[in-house]
Amino acid sequence: MKAALRERYGSTDVVELHEIDKPQPVDDEVLVRVRAASVNRADLDGLTPRPQFVRLFIGLRAPRQPRIGLDAAGLVEAVGPGVTRFKVGDRVFGDMFSFGSGSFAEYVCTSERAFLPIPVGLTFEDAATLPHSAVLGVQGLRLRDGRTPKAGDRVLIDGASGNVGPFAVQIAKDMGAEVTGVARTGKLDFVRSLGADHVIDYTSTDYTRAGKVYDWIVDTDSHHSVLAVRRALAPGGVYVTLGGTSWPILAAMLGAPLVGRATGRRMGLLLWWKPFNPPDVDRVTELIAAGKVRPAIDRRFPLDQVVDALRWVDDGRAKGKVLVIP
Ligand SMILES: NC(=O)c1ccc[n+]([C@@H]2O[C@H](COP(=O)([O-])OP(=O)(O)OC[C@H]3O[C@@H](n4cnc5c(N)ncnc54)[C@H](OP(=O)(O)O)[C@@H]3O)[C@@H](O)[C@H]2O)c1
Repeated sequence: MKAALRERYGSTDVVELHEIDKPQPVDDEVLVRVRAASVNRADLDGLTPRPQFVRLFIGLRAPRQPRIGLDAAGLVEAVGPGVTRFKVGDRVFGDMFSFGSGSFAEYVCTSERAFLPIPVGLTFEDAATLPHSAVLGVQGLRLRDGRTPKAGDRVLIDGASGNVGPFAVQIAKDMGAEVTGVARTGKLDFVRSLGADHVIDYTSTDYTRAGKVYDWIVDTDSHHSVLAVRRALAPGGVYVTLGGTSWPILAAMLGAPLVGRATGRRMGLLLWWKPFNPPDVDRVTELIAAGKVRPAIDRRFPLDQVVDALRWVDDGRAKGKVLVIP
């Protein structure tokens, strides 16, 4: 079978398509014929580890896991003897983050715990956009104690045009929030098309200096200091950042909670991420079935052009999700 592999860290150029043995499922494993996979920022973060201390967990000098790709949707082709939830022919999707990666391939083979059934009516392509990004969108709009934005709250999504942002914009709209999306010039119409009430072009306007305040800010990739963000956060407001490079992440982990507490706000890094958490997946698929969320697919690349797919996202050209189709 064909699979995208990388043996060392580096740019997208380190990724190559290889012919490898098709695995046989054992124990509680299912062999899934991938019908669609999607690219996430985390795939790129794994190529050139970001933040850098991630190397402590995924391999100091070289990646321990050569397979790449997180989001997968496909058909169960074979099951191990311990499998209880799926049978051959089932349509499934999942986030391979905790299950060895490898969705940029013709097959993934891992524990059945990685997967959920694809709801009737959801295509493989739409399902493949959801596992990593849509779940982060839901969880960025909910604190550990269950608090979420309320109807009428002013919500700002910084990074509204990427993988997580389009889901976060639409979910916040469903909550009844007044939503502002931040993106570069050429993607503002796309962000409006998702339902954002207001858009801000980050190439000309720094939202932290624009004189407006928000009740909830989701930052998909930290580009402002915690002190700057505090200026744009209403008293009692919430700032959740999902990721970024090493220093912003450390500042968000250590400094933001202190700044927030001292100023009557809740600020910090999303530390309560539960990958592919079933209730959150259900929430998103229900919103899609109700026509309230639409997976935004930018374009599709065949598996043998997986490097181009990764570059398309890395170069900032994607509006929404990019699919890899084996
Ligand atoms: N906390 C956790 O447990 C956890 C778990 C998994 C993943 N993550 C993180 O979640 C994040 C997911 O992000 P994603 O996949 O949505 O990323 P993405 O698709 O790359 O989106 C990043 C966004 O940042 C915007 N951006 C780029 N430069 C900017 C600037 N200078 N100012 C403002 N915005 C700028 C881009 O806007 P334009 O495209 O318009 O330029 C883009 O919309 C990643 O940071 C990942 O590391 C966190």
